[in-house]
Amino acid sequence: MTHQPQKPQDVARPPAGADRLRPAGPTPLEALTRVSQMIAGNLDLPALLRSAIRAGADAMNAEACSILLQDAAGNALRFHIVDGPQTGGLTEATVPIDDHSIAGWVAKHQRPALVPDAYQDNRFTPAYDARTGFHTRSVICVPLVAKGRPLGVIQVLNRLDGRSFDEADLDLAQAVASLIAVAIHNAEEHEARMRAERLATVGETVAGMAHFIKNILNGLRAGSYIIDQHLGGESESRVVHGWEIVKRNMQRLSTVVLDMLSYSRDRKPLCQPCHIGALCEDVVGLLQHQAAEKGVTLVTSCDVEQASVDETAVSRCLINLVGNAIDASGAGGMVYVEAHSDADPGRFVLRVRDTGCGIPPEDLDRIFDVFFSTKGSKGTGLGLAVTLKTVREHGGDVQVDSTPGQGTEFRLVLPREGSAAPAD
Ligand SMILES: Nc1ncnc2c1ncn2[C@@H]1O[C@H](COP(=O)(O)OP(=O)(O)OP(=O)(O)O)[C@@H](O)[C@H]1O
Ligand SMILES: [Mg+2]
Repeated sequence: MTHQPQKPQDVARPPAGADRLRPAGPTPLEALTRVSQMIAGNLDLPALLRSAIRAGADAMNAEACSILLQDAAGNALRFHIVDGPQTGGLTEATVPIDDHSIAGWVAKHQRPALVPDAYQDNRFTPAYDARTGFHTRSVICVPLVAKGRPLGVIQVLNRLDGRSFDEADLDLAQAVASLIAVAIHNAEEHEARMRAERLATVGETVAGMAHFIKNILNGLRAGSYIIDQHLGGESESRVVHGWEIVKRNMQRLSTVVLDMLSYSRDRKPLCQPCHIGALCEDVVGLLQHQAAEKGVTLVTSCDVEQASVDETAVSRCLINLVGNAIDASGAGGMVYVEAHSDADPGRFVLRVRDTGCGIPPEDLDRIFDVFFSTKGSKGTGLGLAVTLKTVREHGGDVQVDSTPGQGTEFRLVLPREGSAAPAD
């Protein structure tokens, strides 16, 4: 599409966008106050930049505005935010940082430009007008700089009243640009901090897991050694003993890997109708041997017939809770696994109650933290973190009451109809 330069006498004509004249915009002071408030608020960066540049443009009675940010190499600008009547295709366009466009010149020289008539200015390139069908008349373009580092430019086009921009508009644009630069800089710093924290967490996690897995591998090695020593020999019972150690450590390995996977990914539960009594019985059956070894009795009771839950995920929660209850109990201890109705008819409660050691009040706030464990090398501290996450993904919640020396009760309050909560 070719572009016809505007004839000088056209300049005084009402501009193309004048039919969408806005009601009187904010005063410069109001605009700056609004932009500062936006920066202090918690809008996400693109929304903040869009609102901030629009507030500034409204105070200048401008038809269009844009924010162009420098690429990593510092060779070109990219349209980041474009606001105006005809913006088609601009977000894919790049503007070289050189003297062949107003924005490029401003970014290159780090100086503002106040251009009363774009087509009379030899830095202006009509290519972008040709691309969008927009007609540029008057331009303000100012650099965006944060702590001496160039970020890009902001550009404001055409006063809606047909006049050209003036020095007062330029001052306002520069003030808005400083605030926008602060917002971009803050967002970058926040992002860098989050990345550093994530890396630190990953480091801690890997170190913690490596230690835990090393212990399991030691167990596997010990079991294999016993089997090796006695394979084909007289003592079959030693081989069986070695094999038990190997199986127990494989089970621990599989538990820790499954817990890590559950914890690391957001997932929507696959809810299906499930017989809750059978689910409780299965979990108790699985842990019966472990309880018997410690002299702990497991008791189940259930008055909930069916509910729609992710059976595998909820079973894992119950396994974690019952496992913890057994760990906390001594010989003669009791662990009750119960399913019953809630006061809210849309919900039911899975309750695991023990007569074990209880949880000290100072630990209660931390037991759901990932890697919080008082079991030394025997615990990863993932069980309750995974349980809470799973229950929340179902749209439910976890409650706990504990009295040191008397016992602990965990309650999983779950929707009967498995309303999968959006992953956050
Ligand atoms: N029923 C309970 N009685 C007493 N303390 C408990 C009970 N359940 C949990 N805890 C405390 O909460 C901590 C965290 O439990 P969690 O299940 O998350 O980790 P863990 O059992 O230590 O390790 P694992 O990841 O192997 O489950 C436990 O180490 C323990 O101190
Ligand atoms: Mg546990």
